[in-house]
Amino acid sequence: MRRIGLIVLSVAALAACDRARAGSNARGEPSAADTEAVAQARFDPAAFDTVGWASDSLRLARGGDVFKWGCAECHGPQGHGDGGKVTPRGDTLRPPDFHDAAWHLAGDTDAVRRKVFAGNVRGMPHWGLRRMEARDIDAVAAYVLTVLHGAQSGPTAAAH
Ligand code: HEC
Repeated sequence: MRRIGLIVLSVAALAACDRARAGSNARGEPSAADTEAVAQARFDPAAFDTVGWASDSLRLARGGDVFKWGCAECHGPQGHGDGGKVTPRGDTLRPPDFHDAAWHLAGDTDAVRRKVFAGNVRGMPHWGLRRMEARDIDAVAAYVLTVLHGAQSGPTAAAH
C-alpha cells in the first residue's frame, strides 16, 4: 500500500513540475507573467501603419468612447487613476495619473499603444489578447496622450 502511495505522490509531483515549466498555475491556466509575455510577443507596431482617420476629431471622439467603456473603471473617468476598481483579491488598483506633468509615457505614442495591447502583471489588461482592434488602440492612445495628458493639471491630489 505504501508503495502505491509513493507512486501516486511522485506522479503528482511530476505533473506539478510540468505545469511549472509551462508557466501555468494549479488549474492549468497560464500565469500572469506568461500572458504578458505572449501579448508582448504578439504586439506588431506595423499593425498601425494602415490605420487612418478622416480627421483628428473623429479619432479623439472614438478614443473617448473606448476610454469610457474600456478604461475608466480603473483609470477614472478623467484618467486620474482614481477609478477605484477592486480586484478579485481585494486590492484597489491605483494606476498612474495621466495628467501628471512628469508622466513617463508623455509624447510616446508607440509605448502607449504597446502598453494598451500587452498590459502587464500589475492589473493593466492585455487588450490585444482581448482582440481590441489596432484602430481602437490607436484612438484611445491618442485620446490619453492628447486629451487627458494634454489637459495637464498636476498630480491627482491637486486636480480635484
Ligand atoms: C482592470 C483595470 C484596468 C483597465 C480596465 C485598464 N487599465 Fe490601464 N492600467 C491599469 C493599472 C493597474 C495600471 C498600472 C500598472 C502598473 O503599475 O504598471 C495601468 C497602466 C496603464 C498604462 C501605463 C501607465 C504608465 O504610466 O506606465 C496605460 C497607458 C494604460 N494603463 C492605458 C489604459 C487604457 C487606454 C485602457 C483602456 C483601453 C486601460 N488602461 C484599461 C489598470 C487598468
